This record gives sequence, structure tokens and C-alpha cells, in this order.
Amino acid sequence: MQPITLTRFLIEQQRRDDGTCPAELRLLIETVARACKTITFAIAKGALGDVLGALGSENVQGEVQKKLDVIANEILLDANEWGGHLAAMASEEMETIHLIPNRYPKGEYLMLFDPIDGSSNIDVDLSVGTIFSVLQAPESCAGREVTEDDFLQPGVNQVAAGYAIYGPQTLLVLTLGTGVYEFTLDREMGTWRMTDGPMRIPGGTHEIAINMARRAQWAPSICDYIDARLGAEEGPYAGLYNMRWTASMVADIHRILKRGGIFLYPADHRKPGKARLRLLYEANPMSMLIEQAGGAAFDGYGRIMEVAPTGLHQRVGVILGDAAEVAAALASQEAALV
Ligand code: F6P
Repeated sequence: MQPITLTRFLIEQQRRDDGTCPAELRLLIETVARACKTITFAIAKGALGDVLGALGSENVQGEVQKKLDVIANEILLDANEWGGHLAAMASEEMETIHLIPNRYPKGEYLMLFDPIDGSSNIDVDLSVGTIFSVLQAPESCAGREVTEDDFLQPGVNQVAAGYAIYGPQTLLVLTLGTGVYEFTLDREMGTWRMTDGPMRIPGGTHEIAINMARRAQWAPSICDYIDARLGAEEGPYAGLYNMRWTASMVADIHRILKRGGIFLYPADHRKPGKARLRLLYEANPMSMLIEQAGGAAFDGYGRIMEVAPTGLHQRVGVILGDAAEVAAALASQEAALV
């Protein structure tokens, strides 16, 4: 028997009648999944579709925009603005929020997304992904225009989060707050079929994802944690740990969900507030997925999903993955503080 489709999974979730998947949220997830299908076909055309390379512009973060960053952003905006399920959207590629045009009905959800995560990988044919996070619009939005402040909610408020990964297979990994499920795109049929779930992060995997080139930015406690485990010739961990870094958060997080281990992109301890990853587009949705799969997600000080956002494009330190390994990384920090 064929694995169940995403549509069937969502309808069954809706039937649970516990409020985890109201009809509008189901429509939203189906729409995002459809947009990700369009994005995967755009990516797959590569040089033949003239989608590779840079555009010559920079995004709000001052990063060079790739053609596919902009193409995927447009695909997600176009797919989601007319369905009546969203009140507004925010994207890592746009300075401010995207309001639903007045000609369309407005819904009760807010969606934030990173259209192409890890986009430096596009031109060299490595995995990239789309990350999304769904919030409920505050009740106070009724009868007025949504503002940026309405998006500044902590990650614990997310009602859904997920990513699509465009790799050897195209996958959609999703949580509605009741476990994490993986769907594989069946390219012949055009449907998503469940291939894993509820997913649990396997324990005891000695793999660390970290960009070693940023060592000068790490707090001494993070250096101690890493030095004891990577390349140590003696001590309890000698020869035990391996390092993996794809420079695409989606790919690194997917590996952790499937195989275990830990991911670290710590904030710069010399300049508090300077970090690489975005709270609302990357850290929060990934934290929800990781926690729903039994893992832990911290910024080095507390739980990422409890951080109160102060800006749409705010960045945050990230230490997440297998709960025991995250605890070990944090313990080295606590030990350093004693
Ligand atoms: O934020 C985008 C991103 O490409 C992530 O997907 C990835 O984890 C990280 O940045 C890579 O950073 P670096 O360029 O330091 O390897």
C-alpha cells in the first residue's frame, strides 16, 4: 500500500477536532506545499532555466540576492495571497511585511518564511530549502491593518512550522504541534507522501555541525566544548566525534532529525546581539521542529522559543539538536560561569 498523502494527513488532523488543524490552516499548509513544488521544479532547471547566479542586488540583511531567492519569494507570495487564509506575510528577503491586497479576503494567520535557505549552495548543486513559520494574527488585528509588531511573537506561539528540502529527494517536514512528519514528493504523481513520522531525534550520535571558521567569535566555554570533542587526541572523547557542515541550515537540521547530533551557530560573544541566524525565519521554526522531535533548542542563555522578538530581522545564537548533547554544550557554558 502507498504511504498516505499530505492531503489525507491534514484532513485526518482536522478531524481530530482538537483545534490543531482548523480548515484554514490546512489550506495554508497545502498552499505552501504547492508553492514548494513549484520552487523545486524551478531549482531543478538550473542553468537551463537561467535561474542560477546572483541578481546584483542585496537583501535587507546586506546579503547578495541570488536569482532563486527572488524567484522563490515571488512564488510563495503569489501562491499565498489570494486563498483567504492569511492576514499578512513576512520574508527574510523583504524589508517589511507583505499585506494581503484589498481585492482578496483576509484570514487569521501570519506566515514568515525564508524562501531559499542556504542559497550559497544553489550554484554548486547542493541542498537548499524553504523554511516557514505560522502564527495566529493577534485578535487586536480585527478591523485594522496588520503591522510589523503583530509578527513579533515568541516561537512558543507558532501553530505550525516546517521546511522543504531540495536535495536528492524533495521533502516536506512539518509540525502542527503534534509531532513531526516527513513527506516525500512523488514527482510522477505530483503528490506528497508520508515517509517518516512521528520523527524522534536518535540519541547517542556523535556528530557536530558547526562552522569552525567562526571560532574567534565563540565564548571560551563553546571553544572548550568543541575542543574536547573535535580533533582531541586524548581525553574521554578522543576519536569519538565527527564534524559535518553543509552551510545550509535545512540540510544540517534534516540530518539531525534523521540521524541525531547537534547544530551550533553561537552568537558572537564579543558583540552581544551579533549572530548569524534569524530568529523569526530560521531559529524559531527549526526549534519547534526539533523540540517536537524530542530535542532541545537554546540561544546560549535560554530557550529560543521563549525569546521575545524586538525586530522582524533579529538574529540569535543557535544551539539545537539531541537534548543530551545540547545539555552538554550548555553545561560547559554554565561551568565556565561558575
Ligand atoms: O542563514 C543562512 C545560512 O546559509 C544557513 O542556512 C547556514 O546554516 C548558514 O547561513 C551558513 O553560514 P556560513 O556561511 O557561516 O557557513
